[in-house]
Amino acid sequence: MANKFKTRVTEILGVEHPLIMGTMQGHSTAELVAAAANAGAFACIASTMFNTSQALREEIRKAKSLTDKPFGVNINLFPMIRPQNTDEYIDAVLEEGVTVIETAGRSPEELVDHIKKGNAKLMHKCARLRDARKAESLGADLVEIVGFECGGHPSREGIGGLVLIPQVVDAVQIPVIAGGGIADARGFVAALALGAEGVLMGTRFLASRECLLHLNLKSRLVDVMSTESTLVLGTIGDPIRVLRTELVSKVQELEEKGATLEDLLPLVAGEKSREAMSAGDVDNSLLPCGQVVGMIRDIPTVKELIDSIINGAIAVQERLSNTLSGNG
Ligand SMILES: Cc1cc2nc3c(=O)[nH]c(=O)nc-3n(C[C@H](O)[C@H](O)[C@H](O)COP(=O)(O)O)c2cc1C
Repeated sequence: MANKFKTRVTEILGVEHPLIMGTMQGHSTAELVAAAANAGAFACIASTMFNTSQALREEIRKAKSLTDKPFGVNINLFPMIRPQNTDEYIDAVLEEGVTVIETAGRSPEELVDHIKKGNAKLMHKCARLRDARKAESLGADLVEIVGFECGGHPSREGIGGLVLIPQVVDAVQIPVIAGGGIADARGFVAALALGAEGVLMGTRFLASRECLLHLNLKSRLVDVMSTESTLVLGTIGDPIRVLRTELVSKVQELEEKGATLEDLLPLVAGEKSREAMSAGDVDNSLLPCGQVVGMIRDIPTVKELIDSIINGAIAVQERLSNTLSGNG
Protein backbone atom coordinates (compact mmCIF):
# COMPACT_ATOMS: atom_id res chain seq x y z
CA MET A 1 0.00 0.00 0.00
CA ALA A 2 1.47 3.38 -0.99
CA ASN A 3 1.97 5.73 1.92
CA LYS A 4 -0.08 8.75 0.94
CA PHE A 5 -0.15 10.49 4.28
CA LYS A 6 3.31 11.60 5.30
CA THR A 7 3.34 14.34 7.95
CA ARG A 8 5.59 15.61 10.73
CA VAL A 9 3.72 13.15 12.97
CA THR A 10 4.73 10.11 10.90
CA GLU A 11 8.28 11.48 10.83
CA ILE A 12 8.57 12.13 14.59
CA LEU A 13 6.88 8.89 15.63
CA GLY A 14 8.55 6.83 12.91
CA VAL A 15 5.27 5.28 11.77
CA GLU A 16 3.76 4.51 8.39
CA HIS A 17 0.37 6.16 8.93
CA PRO A 18 -0.53 9.36 10.83
CA LEU A 19 -2.95 7.30 12.89
CA ILE A 20 -2.77 6.88 16.64
CA MET A 21 -4.75 4.38 18.65
CA GLY A 22 -5.85 6.25 21.80
CA THR A 23 -4.46 4.84 25.02
CA MET A 24 -7.18 2.92 26.84
CA GLN A 25 -6.90 2.11 30.52
CA GLY A 26 -7.67 -1.58 30.96
CA HIS A 27 -7.09 -2.36 27.28
CA SER A 28 -3.81 -0.89 26.02
CA THR A 29 -1.69 -3.96 26.67
CA ALA A 30 1.39 -5.13 24.78
CA GLU A 31 -0.79 -7.27 22.49
CA LEU A 32 -3.16 -4.48 21.43
CA VAL A 33 -0.36 -1.92 21.10
CA ALA A 34 1.73 -4.31 19.01
CA ALA A 35 -1.25 -5.09 16.78
CA ALA A 36 -1.62 -1.36 16.02
CA ALA A 37 2.13 -0.92 15.52
CA ASN A 38 2.35 -3.90 13.18
CA ALA A 39 -0.47 -2.42 11.09
CA GLY A 40 1.44 0.86 10.67
CA ALA A 41 -0.23 2.98 13.38
CA PHE A 42 1.11 4.26 16.70
CA ALA A 43 -0.10 3.27 20.17
CA CYS A 44 0.97 3.51 23.79
CA ILE A 45 0.94 0.99 26.63
CA ALA A 46 -1.23 2.26 29.52
CA SER A 47 1.31 2.35 32.37
CA THR A 48 -1.37 2.61 35.08
CA MET A 49 -2.45 -0.96 34.31
CA PHE A 50 0.78 -2.11 35.96
CA ASN A 51 1.18 -1.94 39.72
CA THR A 52 4.96 -1.74 39.70
CA SER A 53 7.57 -0.30 37.37
CA GLN A 54 8.94 -3.84 37.02
CA ALA A 55 5.58 -5.07 35.71
CA LEU A 56 5.58 -2.16 33.24
CA ARG A 57 9.10 -3.13 32.11
CA GLU A 58 7.93 -6.67 31.47
CA GLU A 59 4.99 -5.40 29.43
CA ILE A 60 7.31 -3.20 27.35
CA ARG A 61 9.56 -6.21 26.75
CA LYS A 62 6.54 -8.26 25.73
CA ALA A 63 5.50 -5.56 23.24
CA LYS A 64 9.05 -5.52 21.83
CA SER A 65 8.85 -9.27 21.33
CA LEU A 66 5.60 -8.82 19.36
CA THR A 67 6.66 -5.94 17.10
CA ASP A 68 9.79 -4.31 15.78
CA LYS A 69 7.83 -1.11 15.08
CA PRO A 70 7.85 1.92 17.38
CA PHE A 71 5.35 2.33 20.21
CA GLY A 72 5.08 4.55 23.28
CA VAL A 73 4.03 4.50 26.92
CA ASN A 74 1.25 6.61 28.42
CA ILE A 75 1.85 8.21 31.82
CA ASN A 76 -1.53 9.03 33.28
CA LEU A 77 -1.66 12.28 35.25
CA PHE A 78 -5.39 12.23 35.98
CA PRO A 79 -6.17 12.45 39.71
CA MET A 80 -5.68 8.86 40.75
CA ILE A 81 -7.30 6.81 43.43
CA ARG A 82 -4.12 4.75 43.63
CA PRO A 83 -1.13 7.07 43.10
CA GLN A 84 1.97 5.71 41.38
CA ASN A 85 5.60 6.76 41.40
CA THR A 86 5.68 8.54 38.06
CA ASP A 87 9.45 9.19 37.97
CA GLU A 88 10.21 5.54 38.64
CA TYR A 89 7.87 4.57 35.80
CA ILE A 90 9.52 7.05 33.45
CA ASP A 91 12.95 5.62 34.36
CA ALA A 92 11.67 2.17 33.44
CA VAL A 93 10.31 3.42 30.11
CA LEU A 94 13.56 5.19 29.21
CA GLU A 95 15.76 2.31 30.30
CA GLU A 96 13.72 -0.06 28.15
CA GLY A 97 14.51 2.16 25.14
CA VAL A 98 11.01 3.53 24.50
CA THR A 99 11.43 6.95 22.92
CA VAL A 100 7.91 8.39 23.05
CA ILE A 101 6.09 9.22 26.29
CA GLU A 102 2.48 10.33 26.18
CA THR A 103 1.10 12.32 29.11
CA ALA A 104 -2.52 13.19 29.77
CA GLY A 105 -4.71 14.36 32.62
CA ARG A 106 -2.94 17.55 33.69
CA SER A 107 0.11 19.63 32.86
CA PRO A 108 3.23 17.48 32.39
CA GLU A 109 5.38 20.38 33.68
CA GLU A 110 7.18 18.51 36.45
CA LEU A 111 8.07 15.61 34.12
CA VAL A 112 9.42 17.50 31.11
CA ASP A 113 13.06 17.64 32.27
CA HIS A 114 13.10 13.95 33.11
CA ILE A 115 11.62 12.98 29.73
CA LYS A 116 13.88 15.32 27.76
CA LYS A 117 17.05 14.26 29.62
CA GLY A 118 16.17 10.71 28.62
CA ASN A 119 16.05 11.84 24.96
CA ALA A 120 12.42 10.80 24.62
CA LYS A 121 9.72 12.70 22.74
CA LEU A 122 6.86 14.14 24.75
CA MET A 123 3.38 13.80 23.29
CA HIS A 124 0.83 15.54 25.51
CA LYS A 125 -2.91 14.95 25.24
CA CYS A 126 -5.33 17.64 26.31
CA ALA A 127 -8.87 18.85 25.71
CA ARG A 128 -8.54 22.66 25.88
CA LEU A 129 -6.87 25.21 23.62
CA ARG A 130 -5.00 26.77 26.51
CA ASP A 131 -3.59 23.40 27.58
CA ALA A 132 -2.30 22.80 24.05
CA ARG A 133 -0.53 26.19 24.14
CA LYS A 134 0.89 25.37 27.57
CA ALA A 135 2.16 21.96 26.40
CA GLU A 136 4.00 23.64 23.54
CA SER A 137 5.51 26.25 25.84
CA LEU A 138 6.76 23.46 28.14
CA GLY A 139 8.57 21.77 25.24
CA ALA A 140 6.14 19.06 24.11
CA ASP A 141 7.08 17.66 20.70
CA LEU A 142 3.51 16.80 19.72
CA VAL A 143 0.12 17.77 21.07
CA GLU A 144 -3.04 15.67 20.92
CA ILE A 145 -6.30 17.57 21.21
CA VAL A 146 -9.65 15.90 21.83
CA GLY A 147 -13.06 17.42 21.20
CA PHE A 148 -16.09 17.11 23.45
CA GLU A 149 -17.29 14.04 21.49
CA CYS A 150 -14.39 11.95 22.79
CA GLY A 151 -14.53 8.80 24.85
CA GLY A 152 -12.95 9.28 28.28
CA HIS A 153 -12.25 12.79 29.57
CA PRO A 154 -13.49 15.77 27.52
CA SER A 155 -12.99 19.27 28.88
CA ARG A 156 -15.71 20.98 30.87
CA GLU A 157 -15.66 23.72 28.22
CA GLY A 158 -17.76 21.49 25.95
CA ILE A 159 -16.18 22.50 22.61
CA GLY A 160 -16.62 20.03 19.73
CA GLY A 161 -13.69 18.95 17.59
CA LEU A 162 -14.73 20.76 14.41
CA VAL A 163 -14.39 24.05 16.28
CA LEU A 164 -11.54 23.14 18.61
CA ILE A 165 -9.08 21.43 16.25
CA PRO A 166 -8.47 24.31 13.78
CA GLN A 167 -8.04 26.74 16.66
CA VAL A 168 -5.34 24.55 18.16
CA VAL A 169 -3.69 24.13 14.75
CA ASP A 170 -3.58 27.93 14.44
CA ALA A 171 -2.32 28.44 17.98
CA VAL A 172 0.72 26.14 18.08
CA GLN A 173 3.71 25.42 15.86
CA ILE A 174 4.22 21.81 16.94
CA PRO A 175 2.30 19.12 15.05
CA VAL A 176 -1.27 18.54 16.20
CA ILE A 177 -2.92 15.14 16.49
CA ALA A 178 -6.71 15.47 16.49
CA GLY A 179 -9.17 13.13 18.15
CA GLY A 180 -12.63 12.75 19.56
CA GLY A 181 -15.43 11.61 17.29
CA ILE A 182 -13.34 9.92 14.61
CA ALA A 183 -14.11 6.36 13.55
CA ASP A 184 -13.65 6.03 9.81
CA ALA A 185 -11.85 7.29 6.72
CA ARG A 186 -14.11 10.34 6.40
CA GLY A 187 -13.26 11.53 9.89
CA PHE A 188 -9.58 10.80 9.27
CA VAL A 189 -9.51 12.98 6.16
CA ALA A 190 -11.62 15.66 7.86
CA ALA A 191 -9.14 15.95 10.74
CA LEU A 192 -6.26 16.32 8.27
CA ALA A 193 -8.32 18.92 6.38
CA LEU A 194 -8.65 20.90 9.62
CA GLY A 195 -4.86 21.07 9.75
CA ALA A 196 -4.08 18.16 12.05
CA GLU A 197 -1.05 16.09 11.07
CA GLY A 198 -2.17 13.01 12.93
CA VAL A 199 -5.47 11.41 13.85
CA LEU A 200 -6.36 9.82 17.20
CA MET A 201 -9.06 7.17 17.63
CA GLY A 202 -9.97 5.44 20.88
CA THR A 203 -13.53 4.13 21.08
CA ARG A 204 -13.42 2.57 17.59
CA PHE A 205 -10.54 0.32 18.64
CA LEU A 206 -12.55 -1.03 21.60
CA ALA A 207 -14.60 -2.97 19.07
CA SER A 208 -11.60 -4.67 17.50
CA ARG A 209 -10.89 -8.38 17.60
CA GLU A 210 -7.62 -8.03 19.57
CA CYS A 211 -9.08 -5.77 22.27
CA LEU A 212 -9.72 -7.91 25.35
CA LEU A 213 -13.02 -6.18 26.14
CA HIS A 214 -15.70 -8.81 26.89
CA LEU A 215 -17.76 -9.80 23.84
CA ASN A 216 -20.97 -8.73 25.64
CA LEU A 217 -19.66 -5.17 25.76
CA LYS A 218 -18.29 -5.27 22.22
CA SER A 219 -21.69 -6.45 21.01
CA ARG A 220 -23.36 -3.59 22.87
CA LEU A 221 -21.02 -1.13 21.13
CA VAL A 222 -22.05 -2.56 17.77
CA ASP A 223 -25.77 -2.31 18.62
CA VAL A 224 -26.22 1.15 20.13
CA MET A 225 -26.58 4.65 18.73
CA SER A 226 -24.56 7.75 19.61
CA THR A 227 -27.18 8.72 22.20
CA GLU A 228 -25.87 5.87 24.38
CA SER A 229 -22.61 7.78 24.92
CA THR A 230 -23.22 9.98 27.94
CA LEU A 231 -21.40 12.10 30.51
CA VAL A 232 -21.06 11.25 34.20
CA LEU A 233 -19.23 12.71 37.18
CA GLY A 234 -19.39 16.27 35.84
CA THR A 235 -20.87 17.35 39.18
CA ILE A 236 -17.65 16.43 40.96
CA GLY A 237 -15.57 18.33 38.42
CA ASP A 238 -14.26 15.42 36.39
CA PRO A 239 -16.68 14.61 33.56
CA ILE A 240 -16.13 11.35 31.77
CA ARG A 241 -17.88 10.19 28.63
CA VAL A 242 -19.02 6.59 28.98
CA LEU A 243 -21.40 3.98 27.61
CA ARG A 244 -24.88 4.34 29.14
CA THR A 245 -25.54 1.34 31.40
CA GLU A 246 -27.76 0.75 34.45
CA LEU A 247 -24.88 1.71 36.72
CA VAL A 248 -24.29 4.93 34.78
CA SER A 249 -27.98 5.89 34.94
CA LYS A 250 -27.91 5.28 38.71
CA VAL A 251 -24.87 7.53 39.10
CA GLN A 252 -26.53 10.24 36.99
CA GLU A 253 -29.67 10.09 39.16
CA LEU A 254 -27.58 10.49 42.30
CA GLU A 255 -25.70 13.39 40.74
CA GLU A 256 -29.00 15.13 39.98
CA LYS A 257 -29.88 14.76 43.65
CA GLY A 258 -26.62 16.48 44.68
CA ALA A 259 -24.55 13.41 45.62
CA THR A 260 -21.00 14.04 46.87
CA LEU A 261 -17.78 12.31 45.80
CA GLU A 262 -18.04 10.11 48.91
CA ASP A 263 -21.55 9.05 47.88
CA LEU A 264 -20.47 8.26 44.34
CA LEU A 265 -17.10 6.64 44.96
CA PRO A 266 -18.44 3.24 46.07
CA LEU A 267 -20.35 3.03 42.78
CA VAL A 268 -17.64 4.21 40.42
CA ALA A 269 -14.44 2.98 42.10
CA GLY A 270 -12.37 1.06 39.58
CA GLU A 271 -12.29 -2.42 41.08
CA LYS A 272 -16.05 -3.07 41.08
CA SER A 273 -16.72 -2.00 37.53
CA ARG A 274 -13.53 -3.71 36.34
CA GLU A 275 -14.83 -6.97 37.78
CA ALA A 276 -18.23 -6.41 36.15
CA MET A 277 -16.61 -5.69 32.80
CA SER A 278 -14.38 -8.73 32.85
CA ALA A 279 -17.43 -10.87 33.66
CA GLY A 280 -19.32 -9.31 30.73
CA ASP A 281 -21.87 -7.73 33.09
CA VAL A 282 -22.91 -4.81 30.88
CA ASP A 283 -25.40 -3.36 33.40
CA ASN A 284 -22.72 -2.79 36.04
CA SER A 285 -19.99 -1.58 33.70
CA LEU A 286 -18.44 1.86 33.60
CA LEU A 287 -16.83 1.91 30.16
CA PRO A 288 -15.40 5.09 28.62
CA CYS A 289 -17.03 5.44 25.22
CA GLY A 290 -17.27 8.31 22.74
CA GLN A 291 -20.13 9.48 20.54
CA VAL A 292 -18.63 7.53 17.62
CA VAL A 293 -20.13 4.42 19.18
CA GLY A 294 -23.11 5.02 16.87
CA MET A 295 -20.82 4.45 13.89
CA ILE A 296 -19.53 1.07 15.04
CA ARG A 297 -21.15 -1.77 13.13
CA ASP A 298 -18.57 -4.56 13.18
CA ILE A 299 -15.64 -6.04 15.09
CA PRO A 300 -12.71 -6.15 12.66
CA THR A 301 -9.09 -6.98 13.47
CA VAL A 302 -6.91 -3.98 14.28
CA LYS A 303 -5.18 -4.40 10.91
CA GLU A 304 -8.46 -4.60 9.00
CA LEU A 305 -9.63 -1.43 10.74
CA ILE A 306 -6.42 0.50 10.05
CA ASP A 307 -6.25 -0.68 6.43
CA SER A 308 -9.89 0.29 5.89
CA ILE A 309 -9.19 3.78 7.19
CA ILE A 310 -6.07 4.33 5.11
CA ASN A 311 -7.50 2.80 1.92
CA GLY A 312 -10.81 4.52 2.51
CA ALA A 313 -9.03 7.83 3.08
CA ILE A 314 -7.41 7.59 -0.32
CA ALA A 315 -10.88 7.09 -1.86
CA VAL A 316 -12.32 9.99 0.18
CA GLN A 317 -9.44 12.18 -0.93
CA GLU A 318 -10.13 11.35 -4.61
CA ARG A 319 -13.87 12.00 -4.21
CA LEU A 320 -13.09 15.28 -2.49
CA SER A 321 -10.68 16.49 -5.15
CA ASN A 322 -13.30 15.72 -7.81
CA THR A 323 -15.89 17.69 -5.84
CA LEU A 324 -13.53 20.59 -5.25
CA SER A 325 -12.48 20.72 -8.89
CA GLY A 326 -16.12 20.75 -9.99
CA ASN A 327 -15.97 17.26 -11.56
CA GLY A 328 -17.96 15.54 -8.82
C1 LIG B 1 -12.17 2.58 27.12
C2 LIG B 1 -11.34 3.83 27.05
C3 LIG B 1 -10.33 4.02 27.99
C4 LIG B 1 -9.52 5.17 27.92
N1 LIG B 1 -8.49 5.30 28.81
C5 LIG B 1 -7.63 6.35 28.69
C6 LIG B 1 -6.47 6.45 29.51
O1 LIG B 1 -6.20 5.59 30.34
N2 LIG B 1 -5.64 7.50 29.33
C7 LIG B 1 -5.89 8.45 28.39
O2 LIG B 1 -5.10 9.39 28.25
N3 LIG B 1 -6.99 8.41 27.60
C8 LIG B 1 -7.85 7.38 27.72
N4 LIG B 1 -8.94 7.28 26.89
C9 LIG B 1 -9.13 8.29 25.83
C10 LIG B 1 -8.54 7.84 24.49
O3 LIG B 1 -7.14 7.64 24.58
C11 LIG B 1 -8.80 8.87 23.38
O4 LIG B 1 -8.31 10.14 23.77
C12 LIG B 1 -10.28 9.00 23.07
O5 LIG B 1 -10.88 7.72 23.06
C13 LIG B 1 -10.49 9.67 21.70
O6 LIG B 1 -11.84 9.87 21.44
P1 LIG B 1 -12.79 8.79 20.67
O7 LIG B 1 -13.13 7.78 21.72
O8 LIG B 1 -13.95 9.61 20.24
O9 LIG B 1 -12.00 8.19 19.56
C14 LIG B 1 -9.77 6.16 26.93
C15 LIG B 1 -10.81 5.97 26.02
C16 LIG B 1 -11.58 4.82 26.05
C17 LIG B 1 -12.68 4.64 25.03
